Amino acid sequence: MAKNEVIASIDVGTTKICSIMATAGSGGGLQVLGVGISPSRGLHKGLVVNIPEAKESIRASVRKAEQASGLKMESAYVGVTGRHISSLNKQGVVSISRGDRLVRTDDLRRVLQTARTIAIPTDRKLLHIIPRGYALDGQTGVKNPVGMHGFRLDVETHVITAAVTSVQNLVKCIRGVGIDIEDLILEPLASSEAVLRPDEKDAGVILADIGGGTTDIAIFKDGSIWHTAILPVAGYQITRDIAIGLGLPFDVAEEMKKKYGSVMPIQDGKEEESAINVENGYGVSYRDLCVIIRARVEEILKLIALELPGSDYVKDVPAGLVLTGGTSNLPGVEVLGQKVLGLPARVGIPMGVYGIADVLPDPAYATSVGLLLWSIRKEEGEVGWQSRRISQPFQRLFLRLRRLIAS
Ligand SMILES: Nc1ncnc2c1ncn2[C@@H]1O[C@H](COP(=O)(O)OP(=O)(O)OP(=O)(O)O)[C@@H](O)[C@H]1O
Ligand SMILES: [Mg+2]
Repeated sequence: MAKNEVIASIDVGTTKICSIMATAGSGGGLQVLGVGISPSRGLHKGLVVNIPEAKESIRASVRKAEQASGLKMESAYVGVTGRHISSLNKQGVVSISRGDRLVRTDDLRRVLQTARTIAIPTDRKLLHIIPRGYALDGQTGVKNPVGMHGFRLDVETHVITAAVTSVQNLVKCIRGVGIDIEDLILEPLASSEAVLRPDEKDAGVILADIGGGTTDIAIFKDGSIWHTAILPVAGYQITRDIAIGLGLPFDVAEEMKKKYGSVMPIQDGKEEESAINVENGYGVSYRDLCVIIRARVEEILKLIALELPGSDYVKDVPAGLVLTGGTSNLPGVEVLGQKVLGLPARVGIPMGVYGIADVLPDPAYATSVGLLLWSIRKEEGEVGWQSRRISQPFQRLFLRLRRLIAS
């Protein structure tokens, strides 16, 4: 990636759309030029359910980022999430038949290609094939075999697929506002780029991005991705529980959750039964509010724990749980996480952003920032093969023309 090349991301979340324009900063960070945030419409549990509404929300967010940066957004890295995502670990193998038996970059491509030869149904799209580790002549744990000698090269990969139709709907919305798609990136992989430290990935760690519509999970072991999953439950359900449980309109419940909510029903300096009054005349007990929130957050945390194949696997993730996404703003969430999973837990805030980035150091923007950090790493060849560029030069020209006409 050229030093001053402008890159952009669009995080199409269930609650908000966040567009960022930036250049690659020093030390792998991001020099942010403009951010545009707009509320989401036309999305449910991470999926587009109303194309015209979603398109308008995306357009509003992109326009704001363009205004802030003074630049036009031509193309962007886009996040994908939703229950339709599935993943599996798959092996590939090739022989190194040249006389010198020296592994070259080409051999890595070849071996990844063999891992790609899985039968993918026509209604599914391959999103990523990420190398987890190599083995050379049976010797496992090789991170980069280039330059080593051997007869047989094995690779273990993490393969992620998505439902074609869900991806098509998202692509249609982005293209509908005249933006070309550089790549589609699974959201928890993006979030992990923004909030996880390399030492946590090496030791073994669970990342959980608890957003508005989905909880996106990525588990890392030995520095590589090991498991990904998307749960269709997050902040929206917490607000709905409050609305139903306390008989409040949804908007009021959302406001109360964000202003006064906690997963700790009793906090220092707060009377257990103290009443909360919000401006519009509704009043509830602090304790009732927090008991409802805690119950749902506890359920989400238990579902996260179930993504480990068994309780024995807890020892494989000694770095514990890193929570991010807007819902991890709830006070006490890491304490509850630690209790439910029996592992260390912390809240991850996006790292490595400079420039006009005042709003970004918030867990809600982990995916938005991570999409760009992932793209930088991809250019450096560190994150493996993924979905090819969505459009060809001719289509890009067409998109540009369409955008000119629309503006
Ligand atoms: N301070 C806060 N306290 C409690 N919840 C909060 C707070 N701030 C944001 N949230 C919740 O976080 C959720 C939005 O998080 P986020 O912005 O990460 O979601 P999203 O990216 O739009 O959705 P998704 O990734 O699930 O499609 C909402 O449910 C919101 O109520
Ligand atoms: Mg999100």
